[in-house]
Amino acid sequence: MRSLTKAVTFAACMLAGAATAFAAPITIKFSHVVAENTPKGQMALKFKELAESRLPGKVNIEVYPNSQLFGDGKVLEAILLGDVQLAAPSLSKFKKYTKQVQVFDLPFLFKDMAAVDRFQQGPTGQKLLTSLENRGLTGLGYIHNGMKQMSANKPLRTPADAEGLKFRIMTSDVLVSQFEAVDAIPLKKPFSEVFTLMQTKAIDGAENPWSNLYSKKFFEIQDYVTETNHGVLDYMVVTSARFWKGLPADVRPELKKALDEAIAFGNKVAEEKAMSDRQRIIDSNRTTVLQITDAERQQWVEAMKPVWKQFERQIGKDIIDAALQSNN
Ligand code: LMR
Repeated sequence: MRSLTKAVTFAACMLAGAATAFAAPITIKFSHVVAENTPKGQMALKFKELAESRLPGKVNIEVYPNSQLFGDGKVLEAILLGDVQLAAPSLSKFKKYTKQVQVFDLPFLFKDMAAVDRFQQGPTGQKLLTSLENRGLTGLGYIHNGMKQMSANKPLRTPADAEGLKFRIMTSDVLVSQFEAVDAIPLKKPFSEVFTLMQTKAIDGAENPWSNLYSKKFFEIQDYVTETNHGVLDYMVVTSARFWKGLPADVRPELKKALDEAIAFGNKVAEEKAMSDRQRIIDSNRTTVLQITDAERQQWVEAMKPVWKQFERQIGKDIIDAALQSNN
């Protein structure tokens, strides 16, 4: 009897071992909306490379760029449904899940990307990564793109130039208020439609960082780009809390490490592209890149700054103050 028990136990162990050895790799779909030659596109590919080489046979990373799988309007729901495991929507697209992250959309809040980085890596920025937890989403980190510039089919030097113009915006109420503050007409539209909207003149202008202006060829169909640096377009890498917690203990830390390294790589790409794509656009002669004077810039600041007060209760004064502190 004892030898029978031993034999059964041995067979069970063999089967369990075989099951582990032959377990199918975990498929992780990473869906995003930008081109591959952008900071986020490069980060996603680097993550695939690092994760698959460090966890051979255990994970299979599928990257879907250019809104191939989902646009940002649907991707967070898709994560919760388990149709996608990773995404990195811009920080302007989390309003349904947390109001606090709207801080990143306040115009003229951060003086440069170094300030944005200090805020994200500081205690308040790190806490914001957990602000989606009660909605089932886990923030795994931030990735930079860069400061936004305004483009239009007419030169924008002062707020009066934007009056009555239609601007495509991301799905953020702060951005609605930002453009209404200069008497422009904001239109929330998916990123995948921006080129056609510009081409058909359904919109007059938009706001984008240099790498999006370049990689999606918006500069070829907008006559002017004004170097306003009026806000930031960065991303949060998110996953489903249930999926993340359910990963095997030997997989999750390695994946996080790979992601952190991919983000650091993507941030270098962002820094480099903010300069090189800007220069490519200037050199293209397809559009005119305008500089504004300090006095002109001040007019934009004064027109848009009331938006801070408007959103202070939703975001939290402490969060806005912490963001301001990062400028020092
Ligand atoms: C946009 O919709 O303009 C951005 O969120 C696109 C992106 O992901 O950079």
